[in-house]
Amino acid sequence: MKKIIISTGGGDAPGLNAVIYAVVKTSYKKGWEVYGSKSGYGGFLDMDDMVRLTPRDVEGIYATGGTILGSTNKGNPFAKPVENLAGEVQIIDVSDKIIRNFNRLGFDCHVAIGGDGSLEIAHRFSQKGMPVIGVPKTIDNDLEETDRTFGFDTAVSTATEALDKLHSTAKSHNRVMVVEVMGRDSGWIALYSGISGGADVILIPEIPFDMEAVCQKIADNELREKHYAIVVVAEGAVTSDGKVFNRGKGELGREEVILGGVGEWVAAEIRKRTEKDTRSLVLGHLQRGGSPTTFDRLLALRFGAAAVGLIEQKIFGHMVALKNSLMVPVPIADAIRRRKKVAPDNDKIATARDIGICFGDTESLAP
Ligand code: F6P
Repeated sequence: MKKIIISTGGGDAPGLNAVIYAVVKTSYKKGWEVYGSKSGYGGFLDMDDMVRLTPRDVEGIYATGGTILGSTNKGNPFAKPVENLAGEVQIIDVSDKIIRNFNRLGFDCHVAIGGDGSLEIAHRFSQKGMPVIGVPKTIDNDLEETDRTFGFDTAVSTATEALDKLHSTAKSHNRVMVVEVMGRDSGWIALYSGISGGADVILIPEIPFDMEAVCQKIADNELREKHYAIVVVAEGAVTSDGKVFNRGKGELGREEVILGGVGEWVAAEIRKRTEKDTRSLVLGHLQRGGSPTTFDRLLALRFGAAAVGLIEQKIFGHMVALKNSLMVPVPIADAIRRRKKVAPDNDKIATARDIGICFGDTESLAP
């Protein structure tokens, strides 16, 4: 008999509920008990935010978006912002309290479903002695040590569908459409959706871009009697002279990077330099919403069941990962060491260049 507590942290991603479903179902088959912590670590601090999860509670949730537990990207227990009576914001560390409550309530393992930030927190708890298993989530697909994170496939499908729809309107008006997609540190969503959605230009954080090269591609289109263009830009894309697009201050007056604005800037530059009618749009959180694709559902269900397998084998401090189509354990420390970037020699970059997609770099200018 074991007692497990699950948390979902950071930005939500389609497939979170499928992981919860699989952890609950697999655990109950073994006669174990499962609890959920609401809003990240909320349930570890307040019993009102802890919920018992039985197979009946999770019936059918594998097909739904979001997370039944709620999530937050401002819930780091090692640096929790709280407002004192004078209205000032103080940063406090509540990690010891969380460990005490975890032990007092007799939990055997914490299943932390999250991206780089949440798994970093899970790793710190693991170093403090809490038995932890990680599950890799993020639509950005930027976690190391796993071939895929769940949520990515759904986000790419949403972005690709949007690009498909933009073709007809762009063509009807002879316009350039600039579409900003998510991807803080890496351009996986932009790359996969851009290739699949017939983009002319893809701009990603890993390849700094030059407007000269972008506009050259649009001019080439004109020469070939193609009077419209689709430009896909990741929110984290940077110019070759180092311009980043940060919308600034976060909540509670803390400095926070909130990316955005690159699409609008690129569109304005194209309008100015080419005099083409240009429009921009931001897909934003649409990419995080909705029902997980079959791929993400299956991946999330496999991750959930595999996480329970690791608990049974007492392989703590590890994350379940997809490697060469198999579920394997990897140390959480390795997964969070750095972000998984699109390498310049990635085969999809080569495919994109082969079919004439421009990355806004000098290589794209080659005839
Ligand atoms: O990490 C996933 C992600 O979707 C990023 O691509 C994006 O920058 C971020 O979340 C936005 O998160 P939020 O608006 O919820 O703070």
